[in-house]
Amino acid sequence: MHVTMIKKELADGSPCKKCLQAEEILRRRGLWEQIDEVIFAKEADPASPGMKLAAAHRVELAPFFLVKEGEREVVYTSVIELMREQLASPMSVAPPRPTNGHAAPQPSDDHPSEQDVAELNQRFATAEPVAVVDWVLSRYGESAAIAFSGAEDVAVIDMAASTGRRFSVFTLDTGRLHPETYRFIDRVRTHYGVKIELMFPDRVAVEELVRKKGLFSFYDDGHNECCGMRKVEPLHRALGGFRAWLSGQRRDQSPTRTNVELFELDRAHRGVTGPLLKANPLARTTLGDVWNYLRDRQAPTNELHDRGYVSIGCEPCTRASRPGEHERASRWWWEEATKRECGLHTAK
Ligand code: ADX
Ligand code: SF4
Repeated sequence: MHVTMIKKELADGSPCKKCLQAEEILRRRGLWEQIDEVIFAKEADPASPGMKLAAAHRVELAPFFLVKEGEREVVYTSVIELMREQLASPMSVAPPRPTNGHAAPQPSDDHPSEQDVAELNQRFATAEPVAVVDWVLSRYGESAAIAFSGAEDVAVIDMAASTGRRFSVFTLDTGRLHPETYRFIDRVRTHYGVKIELMFPDRVAVEELVRKKGLFSFYDDGHNECCGMRKVEPLHRALGGFRAWLSGQRRDQSPTRTNVELFELDRAHRGVTGPLLKANPLARTTLGDVWNYLRDRQAPTNELHDRGYVSIGCEPCTRASRPGEHERASRWWWEEATKRECGLHTAK
């Protein structure tokens, strides 16, 4: 087997960021030695060998990889898929050392205990968010799922992709999201080459609610009933297939989130083996930190942000933020600030 990596060189001679990121992933996983050849596609020179290969294979993304075995040649535009399907079993990256110098706690094989979670919070107290993500994925791999809907979650997905480890992603498709959000979800899927599982609400329950109360009952009697059906129940179902999950919650996001911990024991849902480990790697970050990170990584974002939206949920329950207003004020704005939670993170 012969593996070629095609890297892009931008018109001004600088390297492409995604190509550097892919190389970093391969090096961190000890897989770089399995890349036999690197060929450059120079944007300024359509006759450069890499540009010719891109044209021959009709690839517009960089980097991409060609895997040749005998007569068979396969093209990969995702480094994650290349690693999963073609490269030898990845070397595991040692988790960050515990701050006290002793062996780090590992949740039991069944499910984590309160004590495991307390020790993890202590151990990662000053760690970067990516270290939290890396640890969860090193422990749970595809049994850990990122709950994805907004900008914070893209940062978590980006960090997960940068570790080169396996992970899962799901989105709760309430049926009431903005068209822009659907386009955003699909851009994230192609940008990172990840599968995004869409979870739909129970058809019978929603049909009955709409038959009885119409499509906008939440403006009259609160959002809990509709959120319960369109978000909370599908979340419960989704988590049944996992052992850990990651959310993009931040402490400064809302008065209801000031106590969000990096690691929590989620007893409200039942995973494969019982309670799940829940990680909130961005708990200590701010809105500004998240946006600096996304810009730096050139990560995909929801086009609604360009029109003044900050926190984005379902279309009927989200409006653009007004000047000086707290980010959460644009969600379920007709209800009290302490009630502006859809129940995904408050279920006990
Ligand atoms: S909500 O509870 O008010 O709707 P918010 O939009 O702040 O939540 O998002 C907080 C976290 O909840 C996100 O970072 C994400 O992990 C999860 N989440 C919220 N909505 C969804 C959704 N539709 N699908 C998947 N995860 C979601
Ligand atoms: Fe229903 Fe609004 Fe909740 Fe979406 S946010 S599930 S539309 S109440």
